[in-house]
Amino acid sequence: MHAFSNGQLTENKSIGFVPTMGALHPGHISLIEKAKSENDVVVCSIFVNPTQFNDPKDLENYPRMPDADIALLKAAGCDLVFLPTPVEIYPDGAQLLDISFGFMEETMEGAFRTGHFKGVATVVNRLFEIVQPTTSYFGEKDFQQLAIIRKMASMLKHSTAIVGCPTLRESDGLAMSSRNLLLTPEQRKAAPLIYKAMEMAKEFIPHHSPAAVIELVKRYIQKSPYLSVQYFQLVNPETLEDITNWEEGTAVQGCIAVLTEGPRLIDNIRYTV
Ligand code: PAJ
Repeated sequence: MHAFSNGQLTENKSIGFVPTMGALHPGHISLIEKAKSENDVVVCSIFVNPTQFNDPKDLENYPRMPDADIALLKAAGCDLVFLPTPVEIYPDGAQLLDISFGFMEETMEGAFRTGHFKGVATVVNRLFEIVQPTTSYFGEKDFQQLAIIRKMASMLKHSTAIVGCPTLRESDGLAMSSRNLLLTPEQRKAAPLIYKAMEMAKEFIPHHSPAAVIELVKRYIQKSPYLSVQYFQLVNPETLEDITNWEEGTAVQGCIAVLTEGPRLIDNIRYTV
């Protein structure tokens, strides 16, 4: 992998990079297409990273389908698929990056998935070292992850540019996710309520406080017996600090995590106040 990239860089070719954990869907492929349109070569990594799973069952159940993934990537024009083994990524055992993201890694996902973002930052740092991308592409679907990766890349002075890409959704609004494969038919039917409720909040915002909007969104989703809101927060898109008062003309990100009896679902939406 490293030699391939060295070769491309020596020839002044740009390398677009899309890190994934596989079980690819059109959301992932949209990142490949964006990378393809902006670079000479496109690299995709598939690695189910053990250090970012806090629940061993979640790691075990994570869908794996490398052959189907490789076929999709080929069709999308991806030039190289990097499928490292855990030992290649973690030759000295799973040693986590020793940097602190402070509040950014403690809020929202961080509050419910201890150490998750340390694991994400560690693997993405390793992948950047190996792949040496010119530009790397990440989905806004994982909004907090994107913010942490931007911070990590800037703290560790990685030369790659980081590009955030819009969330691809099913026709009923559910954000595409590999975990959707694990939903039962009943859960799948209920899941579009998540985005619908966050969209509906746009109408509440002019007439309600942030706290009241949060309550209305939670209540709307929890009308379904299949969904339970773990958090819904309205935050500053850069600092991820909670918004307590509307400030006209500012952007606010609504970030949500919903529990089902099966997978846990996350999503987010941009509001302009
Ligand atoms: P994974 O969940 O496989 O996602 C790979 C990339 O695809 C991420 O940047 C994610 O935000 C993006 N993505 C997922 N669903 C999307 C959707 N519906 N629309 C647009 N983009 C979407 O995120 C990870 O893997 C891992 O944490 C990783 C960054 C690879 C580190 O292990």
